[in-house]
Formats: sequence, structure tokens, C-alpha cells
Amino acid sequence: MLLQLRNIFKWVQQGGQRVFLLKDINLEVQEGEFISIMGPSGSGKSTLLNVIGMLDTFDEGEYDFLSESVHTLKEKHRSNLYKEYIGFVFQSYHLLDDLTVEEN
Ligand SMILES: Nc1ncnc2c1ncn2[C@@H]1O[C@H](COP(=O)(O)OP(=O)(O)O)[C@@H](O)[C@H]1O
Ligand SMILES: [Mg+2]
Repeated sequence: MLLQLRNIFKWVQQGGQRVFLLKDINLEVQEGEFISIMGPSGSGKSTLLNVIGMLDTFDEGEYDFLSESVHTLKEKHRSNLYKEYIGFVFQSYHLLDDLTVEEN
């Protein structure tokens, strides 16, 4: 197994209320799988990808990546995992003319 999310919640406080951005997300991905995440605008796709990609944190639940417990890792260890395994093409990306394709 490549990664597993168990009961992931993410929320923000708004006017004393808890507004959920992710609510009880469970997901298992095997190595080599090719996956699309679909949903209406505002449903939380980018938030979920940022959590999976270790660019953002979550408030509750457990996340295992290659049998590392991402939710318990120190920032340094997590960013090493990110650097070694995660590639991101952002929705609004900014390529630099002066860099090669590889450097970008
Ligand atoms: N930091 C934040 N504070 C408050 N609301 C947020 C925050 N980040 C995302 N949201 C809200 O969470 C919802 C999900 O956003 P997002 O993950 O960008 O959805 P999608 O990518 O599916 O369009 C949206 O309603 C968005 O406004
Ligand atoms: Mg989005």
C-alpha cells in the first residue's frame, strides 16, 4: 500500500462555529494506481490533495504514507518524505523562463 487516510477531518473556526473542510475522509491508494478525485467546486478537492501532498495539516485522523505515520512526524521528517516522493503540478503554476524544464 502506498498511502492510507483514516477518518481525516479538517476544519476552521468561523464565528464560533466549526466549519468542516474535510469530514471523515477514508482513502487507500496502492502503488501504481492512477486516481482521479472528482467533485463540485468548493467540495474540498484541493484541500484533500494538499493534505495528501503534505503541504497542509489536518485536525483529526490518521495518515500513513509508505508505513510512516505522517500525523506523528516532525516537520523535518515530513518535508523529507515530501521531497523524496511528492510531485505537484499546481492549478496556477508559475514556470520561470530562465530555468530548464527539469529545474522548473
Ligand atoms: N483556510 C480556509 N479557511 C476557510 N475556508 C477554507 C479554507 N480553505 C478552503 N476553504 C473552503 O473550503 C472549501 C473547499 O475548498 P477547496 O478544497 O479549494 O475546494 P475544491 O478544490 O474542491 O474546489 C471551500 O468552500 C473553500 O472556500
Ligand atoms: Mg481546487
